[in-house]
Amino acid sequence: MIVNLYINGHKKSLDVKPDEYLSEVLRRYGYLSVKKACDTGSCGVCSILIDGKPVLSCSYFAARAENKHITTIEGISDEDKKVGEFLVAEGAEQCGYCSPGLILTVIAMKKELKNPTKKDISQYLTGNLCRCTGYVGQLRGIMKYMGVKE
Ligand code: FES
Ligand code: FES
Repeated sequence: MIVNLYINGHKKSLDVKPDEYLSEVLRRYGYLSVKKACDTGSCGVCSILIDGKPVLSCSYFAARAENKHITTIEGISDEDKKVGEFLVAEGAEQCGYCSPGLILTVIAMKKELKNPTKKDISQYLTGNLCRCTGYVGQLRGIMKYMGVKE
């Protein structure tokens, strides 16, 4: 079946199977920043933005994406770099596998939350797991990016 949607601002018509998840489809079409890990909606590594909101692409049928606006890291290189610099400055970059999903979620959070507290930020990011960093450095970097003081 054909699904018509927008990816990083470009109109696309993708051939998908009815039972195929968006993470698989996006990777098949070359959006390799979309990572996969648990594949069960538990880790957040596959997060993308759909109409500006974070969504777990491993749990979202591609067929549902008709007319949706999808954002992957490939579409936001400037903002991606900016968040990345804050993470690096706090020593919070390690293998980087979780970074695309985390960074997209952080960008959505910045638009959504006004004057968030440290707790608000931690709660928003609770679904984005990282196997390397222990979260403390990540949280410091993200708070600085958000302009939030401890
Ligand atoms: S791969 Fe989608 S939530 Fe883990
Ligand atoms: S930096 Fe390695 S999983 Fe997060």
